[in-house]
Amino acid sequence: MTPEHFQQFCTLLEQHSGILLNQDKRYLVETRLSRVLRDLNMTSIDELVDRLLNRCEPALLKAVIEAMTTNETLWFRDEYPFNALRDVFFPEAETARKRTVRIWSAACSSGQEPYSISMIAAEKSWPFAVEILGTDLSSKILAQAKSGLYDDLSLGRGLSLARKQQFFDQTPQGWQLKNEITRRVRFEVANLLEPVASLGRFDLIFCRNVLIYFSRETKIKIIEHLANALNQNGVLILGASESVQQLSDRFSIERLPGGGMAFRLIK
Ligand SMILES: C[S@@+](CC[C@H](N)C(=O)[O-])C[C@H]1O[C@@H](n2cnc3c(N)ncnc32)[C@H](O)[C@@H]1O
Repeated sequence: MTPEHFQQFCTLLEQHSGILLNQDKRYLVETRLSRVLRDLNMTSIDELVDRLLNRCEPALLKAVIEAMTTNETLWFRDEYPFNALRDVFFPEAETARKRTVRIWSAACSSGQEPYSISMIAAEKSWPFAVEILGTDLSSKILAQAKSGLYDDLSLGRGLSLARKQQFFDQTPQGWQLKNEITRRVRFEVANLLEPVASLGRFDLIFCRNVLIYFSRETKIKIIEHLANALNQNGVLILGASESVQQLSDRFSIERLPGGGMAFRLIK
């Protein structure tokens, strides 16, 4: 890949996904684009980048952007957000006599996060309905999420044996999530770079382990979109290494029992 093509490719990727790559990611780009090349029967990365830059091929652009996303995820990632849901945010909704709690799992990858939230909702009888929306930029990864079907390896990452036995059926294709968990969760493709008014308002937003891929300017823009999608007093939960500090003054910081932070909308 020529240095010019690498630079032009990075600009294109950031424009469409927000994902910011620096020079030392050249190897990563080449490895991931090689997979797209194989699928399309093309022979050179430079030819691929040339087509992306000079022709309007939305399907090719989509395949390339999907190939550049990192979909690493696991069940009950970091634990504290899910404990806080059970011990702080759901009891708070109960006290407020809410009829429905709407939760958005933004950049949800293959579904482990929204389904973990649904398991917390299923484990106790709450006096409100829980609606969960999972979104991601990649329709390919969302197809996996929608299927609710997982292999042993992915279930081995963060899921207890008790939950595996309670919430999954073993089938010849793999472990199938039960309707008891999937029924609360809906999935939709959504790019965090774009305004999200059409999704409605939420009481809680999980947007975890995705801001790390973006520039400061992009983070500011996305946090503003997320703030606008929260109900009054709504709560934003980011990844363990992410924060709104220095990026937005619309939130107060709340320390959660057992570690971690949440960000509550104040204006
Ligand atoms: C590392 S995964 C995080 C999954 C999950 N939130 C977690 O913490 O385990 C990051 C996800 O962000 C998605 N993503 C990247 N850029 C995005 C964007 N601009 N809009 C929406 N999703 C995006 C990727 O497709 C990927 O599935």
